[in-house]
Amino acid sequence: MNSALYLHNQYQKQAAWTKALRLSLYRKVHLTRKKNILELGSGSGVILSELSERTDARLCGIEADPQMTALAKAQYPGIEFRTARAEKLPFPENSFDLIVTHYFWLWQKDPEAVLTEARRVLKKGGHLVSLCEPDYVGRIDEPPELGGIRDLILGALAKQGADPGLAGKLETLMTKTGFRTEAGRQEGCWDWREYQKQFDREWEFIGHLCGSGKRLEALKQKDLQAVAEKKRRMCMPVRWAVGTK
Ligand SMILES: C[S@@+](CC[C@H](N)C(=O)[O-])C[C@H]1O[C@@H](n2cnc3c(N)ncnc32)[C@H](O)[C@@H]1O
Repeated sequence: MNSALYLHNQYQKQAAWTKALRLSLYRKVHLTRKKNILELGSGSGVILSELSERTDARLCGIEADPQMTALAKAQYPGIEFRTARAEKLPFPENSFDLIVTHYFWLWQKDPEAVLTEARRVLKKGGHLVSLCEPDYVGRIDEPPELGGIRDLILGALAKQGADPGLAGKLETLMTKTGFRTEAGRQEGCWDWREYQKQFDREWEFIGHLCGSGKRLEALKQKDLQAVAEKKRRMCMPVRWAVGTK
């Protein structure tokens, strides 16, 4: 599987986990009244394709990676995808009445610049909705000897240029850049049974992010043992935010 297809697969899984939260936010901002919708960091098009089944609005996605834009265009020809950066949107001001993001903010080097640019292209009264942002800093692995998994993930994300704690700062940043803001957090805990079902996917994700090595393999073996002893629990909080212009 090439890298773009692997990522598409991963984005579909993430979107399945966060679907209930997303649907409640669509209701909150009255999705069906929106006429022009933009996604920042649209990846392979998973979120916009879901939106295309729920609204007749014009849908547009901007994505920095041309390979992902090409994949999105090939899969969802009815949706407008462009290669562009969120720091410099190729749209005039007041173009959209809804802007959405999903697993996006942690990758921003200058989130305030992106928020300011999003506010520029948003109509007055329009909404910027962070549908879901993973809060890796708040991740809890139990029993405590598995805490090393969180540390490895945090280290790997930071090395790749991400800010794994950005989810917790987004509400303040939105307010600072002029939005009226409302935000919340969901715990997202798996007991050993649920974790066992997700075990292979979870380690595929950890491997993709952190690579391989003795420390990782040792943690995986401890993790397997904790599941077998029915002691395993994992909480991965996610945060949402709605900003109104
Ligand atoms: C984790 S993926 C999520 C994709 C999609 N939102 C989803 O949930 O399926 C984040 C995407 O945002 C893109 N991205 C990150 N920062 C960006 C920026 N400043 N401008 C445009 N795209 C960006 C990345 O290239 C990546 O494809």
